[in-house]
Amino acid sequence: MEFSIKNTQPEKQRAACIVVGVYETRQLSASAQQLDNLSQNHLTRILAMGDMDGRVGSTLMLHHAPDIGNDRVLLVGLGKAKELDRKAFLTSINAALAAINDTGAPNAALYLLEETVANADLRWKIEQTILAAQAQRHTAGKLKSKKDAPAKALKKLTLIVEPANNKTAEIALAEGRAIAAGVELAKDLGNLPGNICTPSYLAEQALDMSKEFSLKCEILERKDMEKLGMGALLAVTQGSRQPPKFIVLRHNGGKKTDAPVVLVGKGITFDAGGISLKPAAEMDEMKYDMCGAASVLGAIRAAAELKLPLNLIGVIPSCENLPDGQAVKPGDIVTSMSGQTIEILNTDAEGRLILCDALTYAERFDPAVVIDIATLTGACVIALGHHVSGLFTEDDALAGELERAGQAAHDRAWRMPLWEDYQSQLDSNFADMANIGGRPAGSITAACFLSRFTKKYNWAHLDIAGTAWKSGKEKGGTGRPVPLLVHFLLARAAAI
Ligand code: BES
Ligand code: MN
Ligand code: ZN
Repeated sequence: MEFSIKNTQPEKQRAACIVVGVYETRQLSASAQQLDNLSQNHLTRILAMGDMDGRVGSTLMLHHAPDIGNDRVLLVGLGKAKELDRKAFLTSINAALAAINDTGAPNAALYLLEETVANADLRWKIEQTILAAQAQRHTAGKLKSKKDAPAKALKKLTLIVEPANNKTAEIALAEGRAIAAGVELAKDLGNLPGNICTPSYLAEQALDMSKEFSLKCEILERKDMEKLGMGALLAVTQGSRQPPKFIVLRHNGGKKTDAPVVLVGKGITFDAGGISLKPAAEMDEMKYDMCGAASVLGAIRAAAELKLPLNLIGVIPSCENLPDGQAVKPGDIVTSMSGQTIEILNTDAEGRLILCDALTYAERFDPAVVIDIATLTGACVIALGHHVSGLFTEDDALAGELERAGQAAHDRAWRMPLWEDYQSQLDSNFADMANIGGRPAGSITAACFLSRFTKKYNWAHLDIAGTAWKSGKEKGGTGRPVPLLVHFLLARAAAI
């Protein structure tokens, strides 16, 4: 999809579809009013007929309206002007894009971005419009031999703004495009099945991306992990026939001396649970257990495309978690790279095992901050549902940064406690710690486990088990939390 910013007045506009807002009840927006004047009140007369009242998300397509030199005018309901908030705007934008996509219009000019939306600036409106347009084009059925639906006609979207806003709009456009491409990558990787998206496949993706954006990429193999003493990661992979990969991808946009931001992504390409086998129902969804890794790749792609002036390192431990004669067993004790020993009481709590070694590995970068992103616990879904990701950190300033990034990106995270009180649930009689902490506060004890490997730097953990993909009829990756991560990086880059 092509996007551009223009200032063209509605009466001068020539587009296959021109999109204007109508407020409740039957109030024309400024651009709709201009078209109405041009067409001898054609719009007013149609509204008076009762065909559209301006409710949020309602649309009415007009063809060949008199004296308007465009084949189509799309009226989009924006609700009551006073009540137009972020949610209403998104509903309206999505309805507008769907209505255009139902036609053969190859291009459209959007006159909705200068409408006043509570708690949203132009940057937000433009970014969300691009993400919505991209999402409507996206298909999860890329491996179907016959396409679900014919390709959408809409190829070009022109976003109309006031001339004074051109600069802001161009910046927002570039950010929106980069985030959309990162989201797209994360969705596609998530949707790929485990037999295609293996650890080796993820490593190939990282290598391809490093060539496209001149990033540095290093892939550690099993023997490298053995040398480093990554006993926890190696325990998880030992039941799998796919070789594990440990991906390190760097965007060096900052000064040599700038401490890097490190993003660590859980890359379990299939999680059957291992010997602590999961039940069969919905087990297919455990192909999404690499969505943390996918979000790291998506965020780095966006940062590289935007040439953000900071040093960014992605660290992705990747393997499968399968039952096998060689698989790690409940009760086995392993030594992590940090030297701490772990009693593996449940082989299905594998994410923390591969992450703990990646978090120790991250120490070598002297990071400014480390954020890990993981589909870590079912308990997080029970606690927070599918609307927000779980955010865990002891650092209030970092928590604030991530919360604000989530707000700005419309990809929110909610802070959970990470108090000392929970740590004792991980006590083991036989090792330094157990890898599970019982049923209460499952997402917190998982974060507590990780915290034991992050003492040397600022650290936050995002549990995306509830937000990385959708189940049921709409099953598919969401690309979250790429928007949150990119906004976090944008804010860090702006502060330099
Ligand atoms: N990948 C799962 C977490 C998960 C489960 C995410 C369902 C989304 C939906 C993780 O590896 C896991 O299995 N966690 C266990 C931990 C438990 C054994 C302490 C869980 O949540 O049940
Ligand atoms: Mn698991
Ligand atoms: Zn898992």
